[in-house]
This record gives sequence, structure tokens and C-alpha cells, in this order.
Amino acid sequence: MNWETAAQYDWTGPVSNRPAKEEAGRRIAKYVEDGQVIGVGSGSTSYIAIQMIAERVRREGLRISTICTSHEVALACAAAGLPVTTLLQQRPDWTFDGADEVDHDHGLIKGRGGAMFLEKVVMRASSRNYILVDQSKMVAKLGEKFAVPVEVLPVALHVVEQGLLNLGASEIIMRRAVKKDGPVITETGNFILDVRFADIGKTMERDIKAITGVMESGLFIGHPVEIVLA
Ligand code: 5RP
Repeated sequence: MNWETAAQYDWTGPVSNRPAKEEAGRRIAKYVEDGQVIGVGSGSTSYIAIQMIAERVRREGLRISTICTSHEVALACAAAGLPVTTLLQQRPDWTFDGADEVDHDHGLIKGRGGAMFLEKVVMRASSRNYILVDQSKMVAKLGEKFAVPVEVLPVALHVVEQGLLNLGASEIIMRRAVKKDGPVITETGNFILDVRFADIGKTMERDIKAITGVMESGLFIGHPVEIVLA
């Protein structure tokens, strides 16, 4: 029996560069094969790709399941009729995701949508990872446009701030919620600090992760990913 839901679970925020995101979504939908378990990243690009994949699944009667990286995409997959499973039960055959910045070594900044922790977990679980981006995401140097999101256990907030300052952070801003007072709370119950650095070197992802109280950061440096540029 299916639910008759009253609420709408479609994408709520604005979508930049929609035509390019649709093109990337169309391309990734072609990778789907019957029986696969697919890791699903978060953000508007992933949301659009979910719609394209669901359309192919419906048209061709494919049986797939998804492993989602946020409430937002779990709701989107469920609404689109794609079965949702977990990493406890299954492992993704492959994963797709978006990014905020991509450099020429395929280093990434992710986490505008606050989902970088689960995105990194699902990426680690997956042997093939596709990052769907349009030209506006390509940068000469990470940190050119976006701050680095750092997910922090609330109890360790000030310990983490000190650690980030010691790494050369030039600006640290706590991410504020919209339509709720106070900070953004992640899916895992933590805060997010958006952190600017004058220089992001190759060891920065590891250095941030080594601070006591950091859950994860939105830096993905040296992860094996394939860039799908639309
Ligand atoms: C969410 C992310 C997104 O993948 C990233 O922010 C890209 O978003 P969009 O596809 O909306 O441009 O990391 O945490």
C-alpha cells in the first residue's frame, strides 16, 4: 500500500545553471543498469539527476535501489518512486554527487547543502564516484569562491575554532538556519562552520580532520572521482 502524501517534497531552493545540470543528469541516467545499488549525493544537481534516473527506471522497468546522503534526497528518491536502502544493508555499485568547486587535480569543495559528512561516507563505500558539475564549478585553486564547511560536534565548538585558527583560518562563520532560530543542525546533529583559508594545501583535509571535535569537512582532496562536466 502506498502513502497518499499531502506535502510537496520537490527541490525548494533556487537552481543555478539548470540546463547544464539537466544535461549532467541525463548523462548519469544512462549509466544505470538493472539491479544496481546507487549512491545518491545531495544538492540541486543530484535532485535533477534523481528525476532523470527515475524517469528511465519507470520507462524501462528497471529495479534499482538508492543509498541517500541526506533527508532531502531520501525524500526526493522516495517521492520519485526509487527504493531507498542503507549502507548497513547494501553497498553502492557507484555513486553520483555534485560539488561547489573542482580544481584541476579533481580536488573538491562540497557541503553548501551541509551533507558533506554522509556524502564522504557514501563516496568511501563506493568504488566508482561521478561528480556532476557545470563549468561554473571549475576553479584554479580550491577556496576561490567557497569557504570550506566544517562539521563540528557542538560540545567541541570552541576547541575546533582554536584548531582552525592554528591552521591559518582567516574567517570562521557559524552557519545559521533559515526558518529556525540558531545554527544549522546537520543530519548527524552537529554544527557547521564555514571557514576561509588564504591557502588550501594538499594536507588540509587531513589537518582539519585531525582537530578533536571535527566530524568531517567539505574538502575532498585525492579521492578517486570522475568528473562529468556538462
Ligand atoms: C551538498 C553538496 C552539493 O553537492 C553541492 O553543494 C552542489 O550543490 P548544487 O548541485 O546545488 O550546485 O555538497 O552538501
